[in-house]
Amino acid sequence: MRRLTVPKIGARKVDGVTHDPIVMLTAYTARQAQLLDPHCDILLVGDSLAQVIYGLPSTIPVTLDMMANHAAAVVRGSYHSVVVVDMPFGAYEASPRAAFEAAARLLKESGAAAVKLEGGEAMAQTVAFLVQRGIPVMGHVGLTPQAVNVLGGYGARGRSDAEAEKIVGDALALEQAGAFAIVVEGVVEPIAVEMTGKLGCPVIGIGASAKCDGQVLVVDDMLGMFERVPRFVKKYEGLADTITAAVKTYASEVRERSFPGPDQLYRPK
Ligand code: KIV
Ligand code: NA
Repeated sequence: MRRLTVPKIGARKVDGVTHDPIVMLTAYTARQAQLLDPHCDILLVGDSLAQVIYGLPSTIPVTLDMMANHAAAVVRGSYHSVVVVDMPFGAYEASPRAAFEAAARLLKESGAAAVKLEGGEAMAQTVAFLVQRGIPVMGHVGLTPQAVNVLGGYGARGRSDAEAEKIVGDALALEQAGAFAIVVEGVVEPIAVEMTGKLGCPVIGIGASAKCDGQVLVVDDMLGMFERVPRFVKKYEGLADTITAAVKTYASEVRERSFPGPDQLYRPK
């Protein structure tokens, strides 16, 4: 099976309708990618690796090296899904030229197909600059975690009419600039529905609406690796409990010297 392509993702939406919703999850490691790849259309190497992998308090400290290394691992672990890499905070906001250099580095070092960046109208010129030079861009509007210091937290966006209008306008500006798809995160549902109806490109929701053209979640969140997750996360598994149980058993077997057992031992001839 050949790897999906960015144009094929865009082509899922025909005359404003997506019959086959886009399935997207984050992935950060090769083995994780192997497991998710057959069931997904897009693997996102999210800068959420800040919290998920590195125990950082926000995505602000993430570097290009971190993104490139994890993206390379995810590309090595997948052969079907389109791999999209988040541009880290500080690598693209200053100018279209800075953004191009950062994005080119990410794609060259990882083999990923596209980048994602946060921000609306203010980033439209940058999105156009990248797309015209061969770098597909996925947009990200609504709750944009890299703006946590401006927004003051991770609460849902678009509760006022003015903010709702701004978010839909941001998405339209990104589409006009050439974004092939747009993530809308943490918004009141009518905004996501309006956006999905107005845009020709796929709108991928997270904390948005089931009516979007696709969905994305942070994989460790949906697998139940964390106790506390945002309201919009559905836990499909309880991996934290599974891991805790396994480690507890291992610890007690080590302490009572019942591990290693006969099956794990090498015997002399
Ligand atoms: O970094 C991330 O995981 C993301 C998704 C939640 C959209 O940007
Ligand atoms: Na992100």
